[in-house]
Amino acid sequence: MALLPVLVAPDPRLKIKAKPVPQVDDTVRRLMDDMLETMYEAPGIGLAAPQVGRPVRVIVVDVAREGEAPQPLRLVNPEILWRSEELATYNEGCLSLPEHYADVTRPAEIRLRCLDERNETREMEAKGLLATVLQHEMDHLDGVLFVDHISPLKRNIILRKLAKAKRLNAEAV
Ligand code: NI
Repeated sequence: MALLPVLVAPDPRLKIKAKPVPQVDDTVRRLMDDMLETMYEAPGIGLAAPQVGRPVRVIVVDVAREGEAPQPLRLVNPEILWRSEELATYNEGCLSLPEHYADVTRPAEIRLRCLDERNETREMEAKGLLATVLQHEMDHLDGVLFVDHISPLKRNIILRKLAKAKRLNAEAV
């Protein structure tokens, strides 16, 4: 397994629509393992392939609490089948928007379909934090970041700060 560099916004590679995976093979399985290792190292609770520069519809998630056994989820070509009318708000963060957080409101429960690591179709229901993380990661597959769900004013403040931090980093190198 290997740690992968995580892209930081603003970056055009975070704004593209990722392509479906035709088949879950060893290359995709290795990508998912590397993504999980990268996510745990960060640490984070979800990661989407476009965040590591791979424009394919693959996400990994683990919402196990500290001290609990890991519960890694590997999802390929995830599709939302149903969203609850009930909404839930979480203070979201993202490895591609480091050190920035904002309240985002999304459907509280979802049902989805995806391929698992064995290339088998699975359906899954999720609520609470897991539902939020899955929706956040699936957004990445369509080039959507959590800041796209908040007011343009707040979004621009965060993106400007990140752009400035990138410039300062580039000058420091
Ligand atoms: Ni994210």
